[in-house]
Amino acid sequence: MDKHYFINCYVSFVWVFCVILLSTTIVGDYTSNNCSDIEREALISFKQGLLDPSARLSSWVGHNCCQWHGITCNPISGKVIKIDLHNSLGFAISQFVEYGDPGRPWIDLEDFIREFQKTCLRGKISYSLLELKYLYYLDLSFNDFEGASIPYFFGMLKSLRYLKLSSANFNGQIPIYLRNLTNLSYLDLSDERGFMLHVKNLQWLPSLSSLEYLNLGGVNLISVERNWMHTINRLSSLSELHLSNCGISSFDTSIAFLNLTSLRVLDLSSNLINSSIPLWLSNLTSLSTLNLNDNIFQGTIPHNFVKLKNLRVLELSGNSLSNDIGDHNPPIFSQSLCNLRFLHLAYNHYDFKLEIFLDSFSNCSRNRLESLDLEGNRIVGEIPNSLGTFKNLRFLNLSDNFLWGSLPNSIGNLSLLEHLHVSSNVLNGTIPSSFGQLSKLVYYEDYGNSWNTTITEVHLMNLTELKILQVWTKNIQTFVFNITYDWIPPFCLKILFLENCLIGSQFPTWLRTQTQLTEIVLSNVGIFGSLPNDWISKVSSQVIRLDLSNNLFNLNLSHIFTSHQKNDSGENDSIIPLRYPNLIHLDLRNNQLLGTVPLTINDSMPNLYRLDLSKNNLHGTIPSSIKTMNHLEVLSMSHNQLSGKLFDDWSRLKSLLVVDLAKNNLHGKIPTTIGLLTSLNKLMLNNNNLHGEIPNSLQNCSLLTSLDLSENRLLSGKLPSWLGVAVPKLQLLNLRSNRFSGTIPRQCSQIVYIIGNISCKITTGMD
Ligand SMILES: *[C@@H]1O[C@H](CO)[C@@H](O)[C@H](O)[C@H]1NC(C)=O
Ligand SMILES: *[C@@H]1O[C@H](CO)[C@@H](O)[C@H](O)[C@H]1NC(C)=O
Ligand SMILES: *[C@@H]1O[C@H](CO)[C@@H](O)[C@H](O)[C@H]1NC(C)=O
Ligand SMILES: *[C@@H]1O[C@H](CO)[C@@H](O)[C@H](O)[C@H]1NC(C)=O
Ligand SMILES: *[C@@H]1O[C@H](CO)[C@@H](O)[C@H](O)[C@H]1NC(C)=O
Ligand SMILES: *[C@@H]1O[C@H](CO)[C@@H](O)[C@H](O)[C@H]1NC(C)=O
Ligand SMILES: *[C@@H]1O[C@H](CO)[C@@H](O)[C@H](O)[C@H]1NC(C)=O
Ligand SMILES: *[C@@H]1O[C@H](CO)[C@@H](O)[C@H](O)[C@H]1NC(C)=O
Ligand SMILES: *[C@@H]1O[C@H](CO)[C@@H](O)[C@H](O)[C@H]1NC(C)=O
Ligand SMILES: *[C@@H]1O[C@H](CO)[C@@H](O)[C@H](O)[C@H]1NC(C)=O
Ligand SMILES: *[C@@H]1O[C@H](CO)[C@@H](O)[C@H](O)[C@H]1NC(C)=O
Ligand SMILES: *[C@@H]1O[C@H](CO)[C@@H](O)[C@H](O)[C@H]1NC(C)=O
Repeated sequence: MDKHYFINCYVSFVWVFCVILLSTTIVGDYTSNNCSDIEREALISFKQGLLDPSARLSSWVGHNCCQWHGITCNPISGKVIKIDLHNSLGFAISQFVEYGDPGRPWIDLEDFIREFQKTCLRGKISYSLLELKYLYYLDLSFNDFEGASIPYFFGMLKSLRYLKLSSANFNGQIPIYLRNLTNLSYLDLSDERGFMLHVKNLQWLPSLSSLEYLNLGGVNLISVERNWMHTINRLSSLSELHLSNCGISSFDTSIAFLNLTSLRVLDLSSNLINSSIPLWLSNLTSLSTLNLNDNIFQGTIPHNFVKLKNLRVLELSGNSLSNDIGDHNPPIFSQSLCNLRFLHLAYNHYDFKLEIFLDSFSNCSRNRLESLDLEGNRIVGEIPNSLGTFKNLRFLNLSDNFLWGSLPNSIGNLSLLEHLHVSSNVLNGTIPSSFGQLSKLVYYEDYGNSWNTTITEVHLMNLTELKILQVWTKNIQTFVFNITYDWIPPFCLKILFLENCLIGSQFPTWLRTQTQLTEIVLSNVGIFGSLPNDWISKVSSQVIRLDLSNNLFNLNLSHIFTSHQKNDSGENDSIIPLRYPNLIHLDLRNNQLLGTVPLTINDSMPNLYRLDLSKNNLHGTIPSSIKTMNHLEVLSMSHNQLSGKLFDDWSRLKSLLVVDLAKNNLHGKIPTTIGLLTSLNKLMLNNNNLHGEIPNSLQNCSLLTSLDLSENRLLSGKLPSWLGVAVPKLQLLNLRSNRFSGTIPRQCSQIVYIIGNISCKITTGMD
């Protein structure tokens, strides 16, 4: 029986296939001859008006315009019916920005954007398009029309049913002539940049009576009439309405009769609507997505929302919504909201008990909910065991509330969970070993709790998908990793952030296997000894942030900058310099590092913004090659045994905000070129052996808040009179134990006044 059916099916499949083949050949013949001269020439003029730096229109040659990139013709008549020249890279970026991918370094995105900009069409849109009498589809989205207006003659493209001009850098007022496009069913004029386009009113809309999709996201609608919803209400075919980030501040709380019975998507996010949630919304019974995020909605979620049986996505984050009337009464989602997949209530004023809220869900909604975001409320209580019944959860965000206690044992039942965020609560219990069953977990974020827990390999055993693990605890060292030294984990992390957790051994194998890391923070985790050289040479090429501060590493600093490779003979190591092309943040503060700062640090780490080597045992000089590291914002090497002079030329380090070289053995003068660092906030050169005068150029550092030159013993000259005047933000000025002469400038006593309790110790001469 089955076999027979299969053969039948196969025969008819072949037959259908032949028919398709046949018909495409016929169509092919048709189209090859059928592009009319008028239409072809119209397209050629259109192309001539455009700038196309990446040659996207290179196929626009020859007779058959129906085969040109982006052009579709009617297969019978050969008339051009569709032009689709959207820039697909732009669309990809917008998706990336919206949905993010924290595992991806941001540098990728920048490359992406550069590539996108290269592939944009620019220039002028020719009237010749009007020759395309049968054009029903026009998509020019994600190009760059350089701030031009939307051509008014688009209003004459009378056959248009689909018009998409989103994020194409059009500017100015939307032409009201678009009202002539009475057959339009899809109109997207949204613009992510926001407020480049505007309209005075919406009176032109109702004549687009076939409209099913309308997106004016980012268009400035500040001056539309207050009852704009009445205008929209005349579009009785409307299925999707997107008015995100339009500056709308009003929303009708009463509407007599609703036409919008087909509305499936309503997006009013990121506006300024300050009212309660209108009751009439619950009459939109076709609604499947309601997004009111980031407004100022107040009060409670209307109870009759239970009528929204088709609701799948409810986004109400970033408003001022509060509990149902009564103490700790959560909004009620039980009963019939059985289709709800996404429920986002982050950043509101809820202070219910989590357990009561979760218990209010009916069995059917428990079985379907995929994403629950309660971040940033004042939700209290423990995380109840009933959480385990939400078996479909993929995203759970409980951060920034007042939850205490432990993660429930049932957490392991959330077998689809991908993202779990529990940061900034008062969690003070344990993480159960069932955590180890979360085999789909990608991202665990846990900052600022007070756990008292031990993590063993059982907790990590099945986390094969884990990419981001971020934990810093308040209670120092009550979050303990007790993992067998040579255990090999199943995951390959991109981002590892552990602070105040106790790893407490030589660099363990489970860390050593993590060689794809782009961000590494292992701060105050009690690791001692050395760093495995094979690990450091594997992560160096992609790492963006490397923070090993506050541990007991006692390796030679050169270990970080060179790779030791065995010769073929397996005998002597050859030593190769390591490069960190993407590193922007290096923090090795407060360890027991030995050796000198490599002279070619600028070659190894050309993109550093932050370099912190303070509180170690480094000696030697401060390499003058640092003067070429022009991204540097923080240069900190205090509390070492560095000696020699400060290099002379600071002119290229204009981004510096902090220079802290205190408590070393530096000698020589303070270079005058430090005065070129006009962004500098903090200059700490105390406890060295510097001599000479305070350079007058320092008065150009008008943003200085801290200046400490104390305990150099040999700095001399008159105290500069500009101290209080030219540097008005100064809060800490310490010049003690030097050989300054003269009187304390009067302005300086103002500093004492400004700084209140912070000590401003000024002495002349030696202590
Ligand atoms: C729009 O239509 C009106 C009348 O229907 C006509 O007078 C006007 O010229 C048209 N405008 C454009 C730009 O097509
Ligand atoms: C609008 O659509 C209707 C029905 O499809 C069609 O008869 C009419 O010709 C269209 N109008 C224009 C201007 O294309
Ligand atoms: C409903 O829509 C029809 C046409 O689509 C319109 O004539 C009518 O005025 C609308 N009703 C309201 C209350 O806006
Ligand atoms: C909403 O529905 C209720 C009945 O379910 C009805 O009484 C009310 O008039 C409707 N409101 C609107 C604006 O359609
Ligand atoms: C919202 O409206 C209320 C009263 O109508 C007003 O007191 C409050 O300041 C408004 N909030 C904002 C953020 O505009
Ligand atoms: C919900 O499911 C639980 C366990 O699966 C069951 O005990 C309970 O009776 C169900 N409740 C309803 C209202 O179906
Ligand atoms: C909470 O976490 C979820 C899931 O990881 C995430 O998608 C969401 O953006 C977070 N919410 C906020 C308000 O950051
Ligand atoms: C977790 O799942 C197991 C097995 O499916 C079940 O026995 C247990 O009751 C579940 N726990 C919770 C809290 O749902
Ligand atoms: C955790 O915090 C809660 C609430 O502050 C407290 O009642 C409880 O005793 C604490 N538990 C532990 C184990 O410290
Ligand atoms: C890991 O997964 C395996 C197979 O799915 C299972 O047998 C084992 O119990 C799981 N271990 C933990 C700690 O969840
Ligand atoms: C952590 O829990 C253990 C018992 O498991 C207890 O003895 C210890 O006092 C707790 N530590 C803190 C800081 O609460
Ligand atoms: C670590 O785990 C081992 C067994 O796996 C145990 O013997 C030891 O006591 C644990 N250490 C700590 C500090 O919990």
